[in-house]
Amino acid sequence: MYNLLILAGDGIGPEVMEEVKKVISWFKDKRGLEFGVTEDLVGGIAYDNYGTPLHDKTLKLAFETDAILLGAAGAPKYDDLPFEVKPERGLLKLRKELDLYANLRPAMCFDALAEFSSLKKDIVSGLDIMIVRELTSGVYFGEPRGIMDDNEGGRIGVNTQRYTTSEIRRVARSAFELARKRNNRVCSMEKANVMESGVLWREEVQWVGDNEYPDVELSHMYADAGAMQLVRNPKQFDVIVTDNLFGDILSDAAAMLTGSLGMLPSASLGDNSPKGLPRALYEPVHGSAPDITGQAKANPCACILSFAMALKYSFGLLEEAGLLERAVEQALANGVRTPDLLQIEGKNPATTSEMGKEVINCLNDLS
Ligand code: NAD
Ligand code: IPM
Ligand code: MN
Repeated sequence: MYNLLILAGDGIGPEVMEEVKKVISWFKDKRGLEFGVTEDLVGGIAYDNYGTPLHDKTLKLAFETDAILLGAAGAPKYDDLPFEVKPERGLLKLRKELDLYANLRPAMCFDALAEFSSLKKDIVSGLDIMIVRELTSGVYFGEPRGIMDDNEGGRIGVNTQRYTTSEIRRVARSAFELARKRNNRVCSMEKANVMESGVLWREEVQWVGDNEYPDVELSHMYADAGAMQLVRNPKQFDVIVTDNLFGDILSDAAAMLTGSLGMLPSASLGDNSPKGLPRALYEPVHGSAPDITGQAKANPCACILSFAMALKYSFGLLEEAGLLERAVEQALANGVRTPDLLQIEGKNPATTSEMGKEVINCLNDLS
């Protein structure tokens, strides 16, 4: 039996997580996969109930569980809270405390959705790239940080981009390992032309490539050029490895290649726990989508596909993960789609739960 900690969070988080729970039940009933599920709060809802976006007891549960499934954290009503208790801090603290340094953000374009991308169909059809984003360091966490007086009546906002050799090497290794199981190519992105941390990034990734993965093809690109190439010709990439901030931005751009932000899952992985499974958190790339919260419009596919990543990366259940991915693809091909993906003449959009139900129907059909 595997243990899961579900932190549905804010906004559409609980709405999409509801559909994941149905999928978990399906695997229990039809495949005999027993998951011990614990639920708790993160983000704004945790702040409302516990006075903090991540309670210590939740963090303890996070250390004890085999994998965390997270919905989303954040909502406009918390925008004016002090920085330390903002909902997003709960998520950042989880990532940092569990040392989830490798954030895998695959961007795959299902055939059924190729016409949905804002790019031409032939540019995205068959797209299958993996962005590996460093998740526990860089400008998100570097010190000094803060807003201070400049003593001349103005203020200074400071964040620090900071990377160490070991932080770069370990995430580079994650990227090279993934590439070996895919098309054996890694493209590293930074701004070595203007940032010392970028120079170090490039040198250290190259060092790992030369010394440990000479069989994997390694290239480097400036992150701005990489963004351009990602929309010009995304299929040139196999695995992209990049820092925390560039990875945040590039992965949102990559999400739209696949048709909708509502389609992109992610896995955040650290080193193994004493039980021998990787520390792991799975969450959709999208946020809490305040503009559609409570309207049954949220696409649950990114969250469902995040669970598929849990099956694969935490539990090694490759067959089950593949089955779930195919069920999502089939559901979309059947024309059942939430409003973010609907453009079929004469068809009504599906609600969040209708989309989830269709995925279950397809699981039944395919198995
Ligand atoms: P967002 O991802 O929540 O929304 C961006 C746009 O995409 C919105 O128009 C939204 O309706 C749409 N969208 C997102 N997910 C969708 C889905 N599943 N189905 C259909 N449409 C979807 O980003 P934002 O508006 O910049 O941020 C809103 C809040 O979420 C902020 O507080 C932000 O900090 C937080 N956020 C949290 C996470 C996270 O928890 N991992 C990630 C990103 C943003
Ligand atoms: C993401 C989000 C988060 C990030 C926020 C909500 C802290 O945008 O997971 O992509 O910037 O990492
Ligand atoms: Mn983001």
